[in-house]
Amino acid sequence: MTDLFEIVDAATAAFAQAVTPAELENAKALFLGKSGRMTELMKGMAALSVDEKKSRGAAINVAKQAIEAALTQRRQALADAELQLQLQAEALDVTLPGRQRGAGGLHPVSLTLERIEAIFGSMGFDVAQGPEIETDWFNFTALNTPEDHPARSMHDTFYVEGGTEKAPLLLRTHTSPMQIRHAVQHVKKYRDAVGADSSALFSGDMPEIRVIAPGRTYRVDSDATHSPMFHQCEGLWVGENVSFKDLKFVFTDFCRTFFESDDLVLRFRPSFFPFTEPSAEIDIQFAAGPLAGRWLEVAGSGQVHPNVIRNMGLDPEKFIGFAFGIGPDRLTMLRYGVNDLRLFFDGDIRFLSQFQ
Ligand code: DAH
Repeated sequence: MTDLFEIVDAATAAFAQAVTPAELENAKALFLGKSGRMTELMKGMAALSVDEKKSRGAAINVAKQAIEAALTQRRQALADAELQLQLQAEALDVTLPGRQRGAGGLHPVSLTLERIEAIFGSMGFDVAQGPEIETDWFNFTALNTPEDHPARSMHDTFYVEGGTEKAPLLLRTHTSPMQIRHAVQHVKKYRDAVGADSSALFSGDMPEIRVIAPGRTYRVDSDATHSPMFHQCEGLWVGENVSFKDLKFVFTDFCRTFFESDDLVLRFRPSFFPFTEPSAEIDIQFAAGPLAGRWLEVAGSGQVHPNVIRNMGLDPEKFIGFAFGIGPDRLTMLRYGVNDLRLFFDGDIRFLSQFQ
């Protein structure tokens, strides 16, 4: 009998030492397996008498049951421990703040573009969109910009592959090509309606062209107030009787509404652009606030040059108008008091989230 107690003790101790299910199964084999110690004992009974077999057999069975019970207990203990570990690893801290889905918002320059569109929209201006890859014709030639104009140099302009030597392609350096693109479409509609000759300049009746064209523009330029990609918003108003007075009125109204300041004043400073004559740079001055008293340039403008009117397909003897080009990035800097343009294009959420 003592040998049986010993075996049960040894088995229990071996099971206790096993710390993984695999180790436990190995220990089990040592005692209950085909050549395990219990099996050996059973085999040893062959030589015993019938009576001895009975009592020895019963004792061995009790010992075997004890070993099996110890095994089951250890299995359960290991499974419990594993479950505990798993629960710990997957523990949820229900007191942690929930994960929020960050609410997105519009970029400050987009807010400005929306604002520009809303204000000019209220004055009856359409909004047109055009390609950012332009032909040299729309970007320069049609806008009365001569071959030798500095803006055409490689130094200022991003030329792109795909054009020909005669008709190079480039990233538009301003939104002014939209003047031509939009006007040509507009004129075609009314010229076709009356069956007018498409090879002649149009001098028939048509509704006025009143449009703005906001969008991205590109120049080889980079510092605190210039970025290789920047925004412009073109404006064009062409009709039979549109004068500089209209430009002054429209632009003054726009600036005062945009900056929500009725005492903001404007200055039209004589300047030069190939596509307007006369041309003016538009400066604004705030009556109050940190920038009060300083003249700040916000746009270029002028009366559309007769050559440009011609390239729109219109007769300059009949049609006249004005155009302007606004810098929405600059308007955004002035509106929010931002002093470095590059902040707009760094994509830093800490900066951008302040505008929501
Ligand atoms: N395209 C000009 C520029 O990029 C801005 C400009 C000036 C646009 C005068 C106009 C204009 O329409 O009339 O500097």
